[in-house]
Amino acid sequence: MDSSVHLDNVVMNFGDFTAVQKTDLKIESGEFFSFLGPSGCGKTTILNMISGFLEPSKGVVKIGGKSMAGVPANKRPTSMIFQNLALFPLMTVAENIEFGLEVRGVSKAERKKTSDRLLELVALEGSGSKKPDELSGGQKQRIAIARALAVEPQVLLLDEPLSALDLKLRQHMRTELKEIQRKTGITFIYITHDQGEALTMSDRVAVMSAGKLQQVADPITLYREPQTSFVASFVGENNPITGVVDAIDGNLVTLNCGVLGKFTGRGIGTISKGQSATLFIRPELLKLGQTGDMSFTARIAEVNFEGSYLTLTALLNQQHAISVQIGAEQYTADLIPDAEIQLSFASQDAVVIAGEGNV
Ligand SMILES: Nc1ncnc2c1ncn2[C@@H]1O[C@H](COP(=O)(O)OP(=O)(O)OP(=O)(O)O)[C@@H](O)[C@H]1O
Ligand SMILES: [Mg+2]
Repeated sequence: MDSSVHLDNVVMNFGDFTAVQKTDLKIESGEFFSFLGPSGCGKTTILNMISGFLEPSKGVVKIGGKSMAGVPANKRPTSMIFQNLALFPLMTVAENIEFGLEVRGVSKAERKKTSDRLLELVALEGSGSKKPDELSGGQKQRIAIARALAVEPQVLLLDEPLSALDLKLRQHMRTELKEIQRKTGITFIYITHDQGEALTMSDRVAVMSAGKLQQVADPITLYREPQTSFVASFVGENNPITGVVDAIDGNLVTLNCGVLGKFTGRGIGTISKGQSATLFIRPELLKLGQTGDMSFTARIAEVNFEGSYLTLTALLNQQHAISVQIGAEQYTADLIPDAEIQLSFASQDAVVIAGEGNV
């Protein structure tokens, strides 16, 4: 079955405010797709256009190739799990799961079959007769998923479904959600402002900022090949160093960063000599000593032991803080505040993006 979702040049305006700028995006059948971006960037608005709670101001949403224009939410092949889920507190777990089927006039025997199967899917078999307040936060979340799946949606829309859970449970639920998606083969469209969630679960991620898609790619590509300064800064940790383009040699761009020195990295997109640009180097790609072709000295400001690794904050030319991550096994007693260290990176490991790096 085709359960792809196509945002065909959609725009969402609220009065004269544009919450979602013109977006053309196809989410494939059976894909685990996430929208990642800060609060207010338009994630829920996109989900509401897919579910039918909002009609786009321009363009059209297509599900399975069919236009959803004018199709109300309850007639769309979608199911939504909300940011603040609410199970019906007076109903049992099984009644909660069966609710959507009962509304549709499905027989009691059929409903029971479905809720038994779904309870097994979310690993809560035997809990059907419990009340929601007898369940933990993670268990409630799994019941909300089972309830959304009961009506056999082609597309499951999840709006920050884990935000109310504590860190440990959130991490555990990532694995569970991914597993449920794999078992059901349903298209999952997941919204989060937590990059860890987006990167660990998704086949592809769309990074959004201020109503605009910044980049759509698989997690590794997003991390290694950010196309905009926003993506470079928002996805993972990064150290920006801004300067003026001094030289371009093949894919390598050298920046003159004034008193901080000259640095070279891989150029992304269009960059010309003389313009402002920013080099981004990840903390874990900075090495102690002189192993990469870009090397420089810095003074340690802070050392933080994080267990399996250490984070050093070092100052370049007494002023520009950069963060360096090294394995705990590389720790030596001379890594203390005020010590001067040699750092290096491989120019191929850094990216250079036009602009001053403001996001
Ligand atoms: N019905 C509405 N009328 C007017 N403005 C709205 C409406 N719904 C959303 N907005 C605005 O559109 C923008 C995007 O809102 P949206 O809820 O999509 O953000 P979000 O990315 O889901 O944020 P969060 O992570 O905080 O949930 C916000 O600036 C919001 O104030
Ligand atoms: Mg939201």
